[in-house]
Amino acid sequence: MTLLVTGCAGFIGSNFVHTALAASDETLVNLDKLTYAGNLANLASFQQDPRHVFVQGDIGDRALVERLLSEHQPRAVLNFAAESHVDRSIHGPGDFIQTNVVGTFQLLEAVRGYWQTLAPVPREAFRFVHVSTDEVYGTLGPTDPPFAETKAYEPNSPYSASKAASDHLVRAWHHTYGLPVLTTNCSNNYGPYHFPEKLIPLVIHHALAGKPLPIYGDGQQVRDWLYVVDHCRAILRVLEAGRVGETYNIGGWNEKPNLEVVNTICQRLDAVRPRADGQSYTSQITFVKDRPGHDRRYAIDARKIERELGWKPLETFESGITKTIDWYLAHAQWVEDVTSGHYRQWVATQYG
Ligand code: NAD
Ligand code: TYD
Repeated sequence: MTLLVTGCAGFIGSNFVHTALAASDETLVNLDKLTYAGNLANLASFQQDPRHVFVQGDIGDRALVERLLSEHQPRAVLNFAAESHVDRSIHGPGDFIQTNVVGTFQLLEAVRGYWQTLAPVPREAFRFVHVSTDEVYGTLGPTDPPFAETKAYEPNSPYSASKAASDHLVRAWHHTYGLPVLTTNCSNNYGPYHFPEKLIPLVIHHALAGKPLPIYGDGQQVRDWLYVVDHCRAILRVLEAGRVGETYNIGGWNEKPNLEVVNTICQRLDAVRPRADGQSYTSQITFVKDRPGHDRRYAIDARKIERELGWKPLETFESGITKTIDWYLAHAQWVEDVTSGHYRQWVATQYG
């Protein structure tokens, strides 16, 4: 059996490859464009492993996707590929429209053509899993209930708007053409192989490098953090047992203001890798200009996936952040490698 997975040289996708291949011998054909966020070093341990087939290419290249589908005959397609960073979407939304909207459309069309040619049994069993975000729901007030699957879409950033558009396309390809789709909307992930442009890996990296820890605005924006391996386990459950046409919200029940997250990281680093001058890493915290249109609070109501599919996160924020910090401390070379090149240019553009 084979799965076609897209964008799996990135953060969540590469963790998915590790999680899936630890649990099964199913072949994964990984289609990834290798943008700045794609890093084959995340998959170095599978270089000689026949269960992981890497193909460099764009989800928007319909002819390529059609060829891969016909060659490998996957039982499912899992779409992780996206432009994923809100700040980049503010500076340059074009790539987000191209990959997240147009790319998803081209992918859906290629998959629809393939699915229609399948014999009745594999056609019935086929699944298209679209990996999306809670950011499509917009922002919550301090006392609002967390996002349920029934919450109206109110995206506020070019990133979330492009993901919302892709979710709508996926939904329409089910209702109009019968394509057996499932969509997952997950909260903020953290863990190994996270590109250090996002809050948690950026803070770990900057702390150790003696650089400022930039907090946007007042640092009281709330995110609902989920350890990435828990997200990957949830996607596997949705693939195997999710009801076709449904959406599943995935979250960690871990709402934390950004400043608290940064303080937690600093305290852990103070304990395990104290600064030479004996000061706390918290002294590097620097409040900077807020992100335009910054969503104040995200929170996920993850009861549906627990009730229907029996999924629950295994990590608490405390256990997950400890594992994450330990991973970054043990993988200094990985950080060194990704912080060269494009990433350095990006940090210069963003933080001056
Ligand atoms: P990422 O930016 O780390 O990785 C994205 C991957 O997609 C990269 O390997 C990149 O090379 C690849 N890619 C980009 N454009 C492509 C294209 N046109 N064709 C083929 N490959 C392409 O992102 P991530 O954090 O791993 O997120 C993966 C998915 O999960 C995204 O769809 C994102 O919207 C969603 N998501 C992310 C989070 C999070 O906290 N990171 C939370 C919920 C949902
Ligand atoms: P991020 O990791 O970019 O994820 P998202 O914007 O998709 O939630 O940011 C998480 C939160 O941290 C968000 O509220 C923005 C904030 N943030 C900072 O305060 N400073 C930073 O340098 C970054 C990258 C993010």
